[in-house]
Amino acid sequence: MKILIVGGGGREHAIAWKLAKSPKVGEIYCAPGNAGIAEIAQCVDIKAEDIDGICRFAKDKGIDLAVIGPEVALSMGIVDELTEIGVKAFGPNKKCAQLESSKSFTKAFLARHSIPTAGYREFTDIEQLKACVGIFGYPMVIKADGLAAGKGVVIAEDEAAAIAAIDQIMGERIFGTAGDKIVVEEFLSGIEASVLCFVDGNTIVPMESAQDYKRIFDGDKGPNTGGMGTYSPSLIFNERLERQIREQILEPTIKGFQKDGLNFKGILFIGLMITKEGPKVIEFNNRFGDPETQSVLPRLKTDLLDIMNAVIEEKLAEQIIEWSDTKAVCVILASGGYPGSYEKGKIISGLNDLDEDVIVFHSGTKLIKGHEVPGPSESDESSFIATDGGRVLGITALGKTHEEARKKAYKNAAGIYFEGVQYRKDIGLLNIKTAK
Ligand code: AMP
Ligand code: GLY
Repeated sequence: MKILIVGGGGREHAIAWKLAKSPKVGEIYCAPGNAGIAEIAQCVDIKAEDIDGICRFAKDKGIDLAVIGPEVALSMGIVDELTEIGVKAFGPNKKCAQLESSKSFTKAFLARHSIPTAGYREFTDIEQLKACVGIFGYPMVIKADGLAAGKGVVIAEDEAAAIAAIDQIMGERIFGTAGDKIVVEEFLSGIEASVLCFVDGNTIVPMESAQDYKRIFDGDKGPNTGGMGTYSPSLIFNERLERQIREQILEPTIKGFQKDGLNFKGILFIGLMITKEGPKVIEFNNRFGDPETQSVLPRLKTDLLDIMNAVIEEKLAEQIIEWSDTKAVCVILASGGYPGSYEKGKIISGLNDLDEDVIVFHSGTKLIKGHEVPGPSESDESSFIATDGGRVLGITALGKTHEEARKKAYKNAAGIYFEGVQYRKDIGLLNIKTAK
């Protein structure tokens, strides 16, 4: 089978890595991919949001299955368009993709189906919103309704911070039209966990749990990022919590999809806050998590292609899905300055001296020629892997215990260098809450 993976981050590298293990998978293409993905797939220079370009490529190449990584392409309707031209695609359609592209759509869904979540109000008028600052007390959770690359949520500690955030999101429109509407939520305290689920419209099957570390600095300090590391399974999961999640969240969600005529097929990523009163939904995403995927897929024993086909054919209930007992820890190496501004093009060294069983998933990397590097190597034609984004690499290690996986991930992370490299030292430790 010919596969096309759309996207070019660590998540897409993990998907490509897992699909490449399937005996049924032949050529893998990735649009646009990155330097790591290029080692196992043919990267094509088409942006994930270039829906026409991707459709044309998929048709010309006779792609058998397109797997969509990023949410923007999904919310633009890439799956509808590929399906229309006869290309099988894995991911939710445009209508269902609203579960990530509109927070107010999801909050209304959760409320309608009595699924536990934070209380909320939504606003489209800045003055009305300003008159209501602090309605749920402080910290005040302020969310741009639309997609904002994971940056659209502000947890304001006081009135001044809340007004400043509202001015930026709705007044200055720093996230464009994503801030035309703002959702304000009750603040939830607890420990966060991510549950990624396979969904085929009739059946929802959770994957093994994972915990993401969203803040940039150790001990959950500093601004939010796309995710600085993950481990799987989450240490706070037990049978009781799993039952609560199944009964209070997963079952009402799939019934709600059916009642509302949402034929959701693909990955539903449920962001949860495990509070004293039980699990509550923070958000829905409609795709694999980044970097959750980098710690979850290495633990999947079943052929991912079989599961994806079962989802598309609505046969998920019959599909056996098996997980390994190993634990996984993924540490993200990021560019200096991230999640603020950072420089790109830093040469990465140490990638060839790692333990054999460690997996390096590339996020923001690209291959450059020696002559593109300023300095003494200007005429050199050899290739280098260089940084090309905020999150650069994910170092995933597996072990019999979390501690073994953690030690291995950190030992190997320490051997990789690029100018400005930064990473958290507490990934995989339980004393972490991802919200205050
Ligand atoms: P979201 O994009 O909705 O997942 O929000 C980003 C992050 O903001 C979450 O991962 C949480 O850490 C935090 N957050 C969002 N909503 C709430 C809430 N109601 N209470 C506390 N923290 C929240
Ligand atoms: N790791 C969070 C996300 O993928 O949205």
